[in-house]
Amino acid sequence: MIKAESLTMIYGNGHKATDDISFDIKAGEIVGFAGPNGAGKTTVIKMLTGILKPTSGTAVINGFDINKDPVNAKMSFAYIADNPDILIQLTGIEYLNFIADMYEVPEDVRKEKIVSLSERFGMKDVLNTQMREYSHGMRQKLMVISALIHNPPAWILDEPMTGLDPSAAFELKQMMREHAKAGNAVLFSTHVLEVAEQLCDRILIINNGMIIREGTLDYLKLDNPGMSLEEIFVKLTGNPEK
Ligand SMILES: Nc1ncnc2c1ncn2[C@@H]1O[C@H](COP(=O)(O)OP(=O)(O)O)[C@@H](O)[C@H]1O
Ligand SMILES: [Mg+2]
Repeated sequence: MIKAESLTMIYGNGHKATDDISFDIKAGEIVGFAGPNGAGKTTVIKMLTGILKPTSGTAVINGFDINKDPVNAKMSFAYIADNPDILIQLTGIEYLNFIADMYEVPEDVRKEKIVSLSERFGMKDVLNTQMREYSHGMRQKLMVISALIHNPPAWILDEPMTGLDPSAAFELKQMMREHAKAGNAVLFSTHVLEVAEQLCDRILIINNGMIIREGTLDYLKLDNPGMSLEEIFVKLTGNPEK
């Protein structure tokens, strides 16, 4: 459902950030994208979501090519960017309604979702406040809520746990599990390996723009018996995560 086909990105300054990245995340799967800072996770996610045009290769979301059929592709995924500091001049509710308009969410559905999600994330009382007054964690929670209002089949989340308090992180993990269980696909990048270990059906490990290992946790542990994911990761990348 979330398919990368030989995604290569060479930035304008000549830096090759990703090299021939391919994977396919099927309905029902939660996949973690792990790698040290600068490994290329955000670059891959930006190519998957149509923010960056790949130098070569393409991405197919829910059967729609992101570059040939961008509107249908974009309607079928929710995206959480690595930085929630956007449109902070809007109030929370203005932002949520803007996103709901973009995704053509019907009035009654959006009302119900906004109430239930803002309650679940403890954001009900601040929806009429401008986002510039929000803390990083509150902005991040609002991004999560906005992504879930239109509830598309694929979720693509770039470091979604960053800045969330423990109860919000717990809710989000719970929702990721529920979403996958309902037959959808979830891809999230993380530098917190414990989160990957708890949640993922499969882990993709990226280093220097290439996928150097992928598989279930059990598979990754096969040739490294007794090691935690963190130990395996450091052994493979030689680069403890910050
Ligand atoms: N706009 C850009 N121009 C040139 N190099 C970039 C640009 N954006 C990211 N990079 C470089 O590409 C590499 C991958 O970055 P990124 O995808 O952000 O990694 P990650 O999300 O895994 O930390 C890094 O070396 C980074 O410095
Ligand atoms: Mg990143």
